[in-house]
Amino acid sequence: MTPPPHSVPLLRPRLPDGAALAPYLAEIDASRWYSNFGALERRLRARLAEHFGLPEGGVVCVANGTLGLTLALLALEPSRGALCMMPSWTFVATPLAANAAGLTPWFVDVSPESWSLEPDGARQALAQAPGPVGAVIAVGPFGSAPNPDDWDRFTEETGIPVVLDLASCFDSARPGRSPAMVSLHATKVLSTGEGGLVCSTDPDFVERVRLLSVFGLTARGSEAWGLNGKMSEYAAAVGLAALDAWPETRRCLAALTTQYVAALEHLSGVRLSPGFGRGSVSGSCNVEILTATAESVDAAMAEAGIETRRWWARGCHRHPAFADCPRTALPVTEGLAERVLGLPFYVDLDAVDQVCGALREALEQA
Ligand SMILES: Cc1ncc(COP(=O)(O)O)c(C=O)c1O
Repeated sequence: MTPPPHSVPLLRPRLPDGAALAPYLAEIDASRWYSNFGALERRLRARLAEHFGLPEGGVVCVANGTLGLTLALLALEPSRGALCMMPSWTFVATPLAANAAGLTPWFVDVSPESWSLEPDGARQALAQAPGPVGAVIAVGPFGSAPNPDDWDRFTEETGIPVVLDLASCFDSARPGRSPAMVSLHATKVLSTGEGGLVCSTDPDFVERVRLLSVFGLTARGSEAWGLNGKMSEYAAAVGLAALDAWPETRRCLAALTTQYVAALEHLSGVRLSPGFGRGSVSGSCNVEILTATAESVDAAMAEAGIETRRWWARGCHRHPAFADCPRTALPVTEGLAERVLGLPFYVDLDAVDQVCGALREALEQA
């Protein structure tokens, strides 16, 4: 039997509607140019560069974030089979991208304060590396972006390149030299449906990623092991319309964030995810349940008609595909996996009191 629909769903993405897209689609009709760095993709790239305070050439648009991560890793040209250090506390796209770039995911633990792999943690983990480390992927969890300068310094000191997986950090990401990927998937605050971008303060590196995203093709033929990671003009049209609406989208998300902070900051037994409500907006609201398991609260919330999700499940190391990947001890990840729960969050959500009331009751029952 199909379960009854939740009265409050977890997520209801809202992308630009047909009217907002129409002028951009008319441009595509007129130009008859549908992909391969057309006028809309170039304009989107320029506007995204402006958003991140980068000069033109600081951003490349890609078909999705996973391909963006893969391309950034390929552009670093690490030795095939080398280890790629990364947190297990991430979405599966992170290790999948490393594998696609010819690297072996090596899972390490995160800081209990930031929920992310930090440069000091990475330095300590290096002493336990079970083989040569070709690259590090640092992840900005749930919209909380790391300081890129700290990671650039890590690379200067160790010689190991870093890629920043800032999939959900469109609003908080600050680019540095280490390439950063931001996802533009439908679940993200700025979306092209499927899409992503790679940015860096190093335009030569960004140009290398762009070249790899078009089969590594130059006038001389395919010069490098690239792939097809280009963004189509249709996705770029959605991105441009989404950027037009971004000030309003951001205002709504900031108001929602403020409501959640006000409702949850005095609720004992829960802690908002690091960075939530600290000036930037994200596409999800995650809490750490301190007095019960996320599984039991998830079940109680479902009884109350409210959909919740353990976004990163039990950590990547628990997925069958990565069972053989090397890893360090992961006590913080294991704890977060037991306790972190995503609450409903989307621009026109009008049930924050209902969600937080149900959460309070679920905690009282636990
Ligand atoms: C941490 C992380 N990395 C990578 C991705 C992959 O991005 P995309 O869905 O655009 O491929 C996601 C998607 O949500 C993510 O959360």
